[in-house]
Amino acid sequence: MTSAKAAPRGGKPARRRARKRPPVMAATSLVLDGSTGASLQTQLVEALRSAIVSGRLGPGTRLLSTRALAEQVDVSRNTVLNAYSRLLSEGYLRGHLGSGTYVASELPERLQSSRRARQEAPVARHTPGISRRGSAVAGLPDVRLSAPGIPESRLAFRMGTPAVDAFPSDLWGRLLHTRWRRSWGDLLKRADPGGHPPLRRAVADYLATSRGVRCVPEQVIIVNGAQQAMSLAAQVLLDPGDAAWVEDPGYFASRGALVAAGATLVPVPVDDEGLDVEAGTRLSPDARLAIVTPAHQFPLGVAMSQARRQALLAWAARSDAWIVEDDYDSEFRYEGRPLPALQGLSPDARVIYIGTFSKVVSPALRVGYLVVPESLVQAFCAARRFIDTHTPVVEQAVLADFLHEGHFSRHVRRMRVLYGRRQEALLEAARRELAGRLRLEPLHTGMHLVGWLPGGVDDVEAAARGIEAGVMSQPLSAFRVASRGPGALLLGYSCVPEEQIEEGVRLLARALR
Ligand SMILES: Cc1ncc(COP(=O)(O)O)c(C=O)c1O
Repeated sequence: MTSAKAAPRGGKPARRRARKRPPVMAATSLVLDGSTGASLQTQLVEALRSAIVSGRLGPGTRLLSTRALAEQVDVSRNTVLNAYSRLLSEGYLRGHLGSGTYVASELPERLQSSRRARQEAPVARHTPGISRRGSAVAGLPDVRLSAPGIPESRLAFRMGTPAVDAFPSDLWGRLLHTRWRRSWGDLLKRADPGGHPPLRRAVADYLATSRGVRCVPEQVIIVNGAQQAMSLAAQVLLDPGDAAWVEDPGYFASRGALVAAGATLVPVPVDDEGLDVEAGTRLSPDARLAIVTPAHQFPLGVAMSQARRQALLAWAARSDAWIVEDDYDSEFRYEGRPLPALQGLSPDARVIYIGTFSKVVSPALRVGYLVVPESLVQAFCAARRFIDTHTPVVEQAVLADFLHEGHFSRHVRRMRVLYGRRQEALLEAARRELAGRLRLEPLHTGMHLVGWLPGGVDDVEAAARGIEAGVMSQPLSAFRVASRGPGALLLGYSCVPEEQIEEGVRLLARALR
């Protein structure tokens, strides 16, 4: 929600010009972090800088007066004055102390690199007693995909969650029982870090036929979800300080995996063709790795165009860099044929492919997989061995049966129909209830929709109001690093029964009124 209490700098308050007034900072957007042991002034500088870099304080936002902010955060006015003048000299702010201070609209070039440096290791905020990497990970924004105040049974509009109500639980129970009776002795033995061989074979077959991935079963490494796959890839492929491209906006948890490995993040903008490879090349031609979601960009939902795919592969080949392809929910395509995975297009094997059972079966299962070039299998398995040895064998064995016996493909087909209907129900309800407040467009892939808010409406505040009304959504800006753009709410529909979709949309309409 915008708040437009102040007149623009140098302008007289006039009713005619009210719509042009810049937004005013909300003091609630600042959290001072006293745990770092830094002075109040440094804490305030850090908090403001972080709000600007994360987009919580957008370009042109008018800051509170030094007196008002001093009162709000309970520090002396001098502390605020000094913090503002430091950020003015660094280029994060513009204007003059005393006559209105604003967030800079064009962040200077050098800010890009200071942003990246801050992503890598916020040296100034190093928590005593733990590593710089540990501090950097602890300082990452915590994007919650559920809201504590909303009961678990209210599903509208949780992100990235499959339909638990449609899970074939009896079948799963039977498979588990049968597998245990047949081979419980083997299931209790320590296993291969690369994964349970029947599951590796089943995944290789599935990927070859459904995703155009080229691999033999030995290239498939079973891990504890896509998250562990990303962490392993970062650990095996990057040295501390290496630059890595991340999509902006993009998946916060892949950023976490890279930061934990000591990487320097390079946020690369995304447009309606996917990751902007030219921009990435300009920002950091020597990056060692790019992590991308080509089938269904998270969170915007676009598919990466053929031209961009070719450009990305060409960049990786030219710079000896790696592409990490996160193919997290490509099973759910409602129209047309799915675009094959990048991995299958890469003759020189510069792609590490990642998939997961979190979206088709359950995120609680914690089973995903990597497909790595043959030359890297040993390195990945060794790294994995020293983390947690292997993924629990019982789950792997039941999953293997689920795939081999054809239940997986049947379940995907059923879910595609169900999610297609749920997406349609969401669009339909939104057309009725949310016109003028939230603009939703159909997406051919995935498990969520992007609802665009009218210009100037703050998505963080809109999402917070939704939660107060009892409905979950994610603000798009929470997934941004350096990019700017209109506010939007991300609405997950896959796990939401149709009657709850109706109710959720009504609650959201009330919240956005
Ligand atoms: C972009 C993206 N990648 C990967 C995952 C899956 O992660 P995992 O397999 O660790 O549950 C998600 C789930 O939310 C996601 O949104």
